[in-house]
Amino acid sequence: MESAKGQTMWGGRFAATPSDIMEEINASLDIDRRMAEEDIAGSRAHADMLSEMGIISFEDNEAIQAGLDTIVAEMREGTFPFRRELEDIHMNVEARLKELVGEPAGRLHTARSRNDQVVTDFRLWTRRALDHSARLLGGLQGALIQRAGENTDTIMPGFTHLQTAQPVTLGHHLLAYVEMTSRDWTRLSDCANRLNECPLGAAALAGTGFPIDRDMTAEALGFARPMANSLDAVSARDFALEALAALSIAATHLSRLAEEIVLWSSAQFGFAQLTDAWSTGSSIMPQKRNPDAAELIRAKAALITGFYVGLQGAVKALPLAYAKDLQDDKRLTFEAFDTFDLCVRAMTGMIETIQFKPDNMRAAAAKGFSTATDLADWLVRELGLPFREAHHVTGALVALAEGKGVDLADLSLADMQGVHKDITDAVFGVLTVEASASSRTSYGGTSPVRVAEQVAQWKQRLGLE
Ligand code: ARG
Repeated sequence: MESAKGQTMWGGRFAATPSDIMEEINASLDIDRRMAEEDIAGSRAHADMLSEMGIISFEDNEAIQAGLDTIVAEMREGTFPFRRELEDIHMNVEARLKELVGEPAGRLHTARSRNDQVVTDFRLWTRRALDHSARLLGGLQGALIQRAGENTDTIMPGFTHLQTAQPVTLGHHLLAYVEMTSRDWTRLSDCANRLNECPLGAAALAGTGFPIDRDMTAEALGFARPMANSLDAVSARDFALEALAALSIAATHLSRLAEEIVLWSSAQFGFAQLTDAWSTGSSIMPQKRNPDAAELIRAKAALITGFYVGLQGAVKALPLAYAKDLQDDKRLTFEAFDTFDLCVRAMTGMIETIQFKPDNMRAAAAKGFSTATDLADWLVRELGLPFREAHHVTGALVALAEGKGVDLADLSLADMQGVHKDITDAVFGVLTVEASASSRTSYGGTSPVRVAEQVAQWKQRLGLE
């Protein structure tokens, strides 16, 4: 072929070639070569349709398909000649096709523009990425459910304001993340359903005068239907925005779990220890086991949100239809998915292997008057006090215990009766952390029975075991 620079695809009306810096800012090949497979699939569907509709000949289509076969093989073998001066993946494939099959290659772009081509590729790529990320999330859910099942009756402190609030079970705590990730999963799959319309055939922006069959290409590429408005088809990027927003929310959930892993594996909490495979050491302090992966997930969640905000900014106030601003959508989207997938895989590995320390968790759960609510509830149930009064009495008992430097269960009956004369010995039965957690049997509550039920339901829903 002629020197790539000497004749760009659109070079017919230009006398001079682009400056180097123009080429550098304009080229997207380094990014969009990741859509090579989708680009070839789109071209195959388009060429088949053109020939079916009699817009190109059967022989031209044969030549195009054979040339694309060769290109696929070259890409697989790593011999495909990627050329940045050809700007993007679309022009690279087309130029190579021309080298391989000659004139028929020039007919492939009939009734098509890079504007509908690129966004078709991008939708196909995003659809696959959503599916992949959802599957990874499913793996994380499996790990969380497994660990929850092992810990349905492991007692730990539940917190509000990071202050000990009430005893909960570790299984219950882990299942909270299963609920979150399952909503994340549905957000990804909703998004994949909504994006599943085909822009191909919108051409540059206005559609085409050729008698194309858009249903045919949509179906060939696994889309539910063609997009109904050509201007929308080439300019809409809400599918990517939605995907990134969903990833951002999901990553935010991961960051909360990551933060808990960081806290729990500190000496101060001592609730858990990451295995060697998931810890790093310090080059100066030999005692350190740092939870770096969890910390990085915490940070990367912010980066993913940044990619979302970046894309939102690029699309905001952009007039219809296509503008080159939209070329940078892919960089942000690819980075967001790559980062997210890495975070999910790291989190899954940590959850699968983290060693919990039930004794420390239980001891911490017993501190901080965590069964005060159980005491108040007992006063309501057994003595018939209104809850507000019971709260007041319990507050006085907590103050008394605090003054003596003991736990509620260590107060004597005489101490208790000094605050409310009707209190009996039976009260001590509700003051243990086990009794407290076991009593919370309301639907969605923390008691081991309820948690075991939830674990069983989740296993059934996800087909585990
Ligand atoms: N590389 C371009 C992109 O990613 C392809 C579309 C170019 N369209 C155009 N009218 N220059 O957006």
